[in-house]
Amino acid sequence: MFAKSCGIELEYTKILAPVDGFEQSLSNFWAEGGVGCNVTLPFKEQAYALANECNSAAKLAKAANTLKRDESGTLQAFNTDGIGLVSDLIAKGAKLDGASVLLLGAGGAAKGVVQPLLEAGVKALHILNRTLSKAQVIAKDSDNDRVVAVTTESLASSYEVVINSTSASLQGTLPEVPVSVFKHCTIAYDMVYGSEPTVFMGFAREHGATAQVDGLGMLVQQAAAAFTIWTGQQPETHDVEHYLRELKKTS
Ligand code: ATR
Repeated sequence: MFAKSCGIELEYTKILAPVDGFEQSLSNFWAEGGVGCNVTLPFKEQAYALANECNSAAKLAKAANTLKRDESGTLQAFNTDGIGLVSDLIAKGAKLDGASVLLLGAGGAAKGVVQPLLEAGVKALHILNRTLSKAQVIAKDSDNDRVVAVTTESLASSYEVVINSTSASLQGTLPEVPVSVFKHCTIAYDMVYGSEPTVFMGFAREHGATAQVDGLGMLVQQAAAAFTIWTGQQPETHDVEHYLRELKKTS
């Protein structure tokens, strides 16, 4: 759909790499004329490590979801997950410039979104995680005093945006979070998506968040950012998200 919206013809297919054979699968892909690819779990760290060059988001996450090989054979790594989140938050009406943001979770998904949120101008980015030390590592690695690892006792009194990056929604559970964080929250965002609103979205709505959004738009936006890296063109995204939502209803 992206290619069609830009009038480009391209082939985008799935490649299943063996767990111990990512590097070989990638070499085969380049040898067959591949120019770029997305990389998913569990190969994102390896993709980053193999690259000759990387953007700052990939560097901070130490993981890449997008690779591009230029004419000279240089392998470039990018992480578009964070920019996908920021683009979708903005598309869904969030004002990030000057906002106080609470990020729940400190795993791979959280790491990838810190830099783009800072670049979007957030005033404060507080990270609350079940294991505090992991949040502290992300805060330290960011080298930016707007990023602070917090506990339930040291939370700010209000946040405009609350983002759930934990994998709790995948298990149908909630990360521990005081209900007070939703009182002045304009957008509660769950990076996870499914056919129904997640437990986190329901909880946020119940406790005062104005809007609740799932991560399907982030999926589309991170893919759009990758498409732009490969082609230099900005694809249409709204119809793609709509199409995927309709597809989920029928599947
Ligand atoms: P991902 O790469 O998808 O972020 P991950 O690196 O395994 O996955 O990280 C999962 C995150 O969700 C972690 O922050 C984890 O908390 P811990 O660091 O304490 O393990 C968090 N998480 C997973 N299940 C959770 C739950 N039931 N309650 C709260 N946090 C949870």
